[in-house]
Amino acid sequence: METKGKLDPCITRRAFLLGSGAAVASTIFLTSIPGFKGEAIAARVRRYPRKKIGRLSRLKVDEPVLFRYPDNGTGTESILVKLGVPAGGGIGPDGDVVAFNTLCPHMGGPLSAVYKREEKALGPCPFHQSLFDLTRHGMVISGHATESLPQVLLELDGDNIYAVGMIGLIYGRFDNLTRR
Ligand code: FES
Repeated sequence: METKGKLDPCITRRAFLLGSGAAVASTIFLTSIPGFKGEAIAARVRRYPRKKIGRLSRLKVDEPVLFRYPDNGTGTESILVKLGVPAGGGIGPDGDVVAFNTLCPHMGGPLSAVYKREEKALGPCPFHQSLFDLTRHGMVISGHATESLPQVLLELDGDNIYAVGMIGLIYGRFDNLTRR
């Protein structure tokens, strides 16, 4: 794991390398976490095939759109959402468009239908009540989970939004492309 500067322990849990023969490893710097006062943090990520998942002009604040990534298999259900406030990893003119896998990293509880617009959070998980902050890279707010929600890396090309990689491991998978 590559790191730089003083680390927040909540953030370092998320900064790990994911393995996959089909993916390419790279490093990104988590510099855009609202309220974070420390130095930039390097996170190892895996990049997967670029996939168009939506259009910026079609998104409305607090109205999540469902998609699958990095493949179409079980466990890849994800949401794309315009939060209306700046977010870590957010794209677009306001830096507020983010995407996350919706399987709870604790024991796989389904989170796709529990977006909380007031908190900009996903949860509580119907299994054990975990809640995840979508403005801070899916960090755990409360509950049993100890890992952040896997975040889908996004790129904007004109009006088109593309998924290009993942930070974090999808629950039930060895490497985001292979199921256990
Ligand atoms: S499965 Fe979500 S908190 Fe346990």
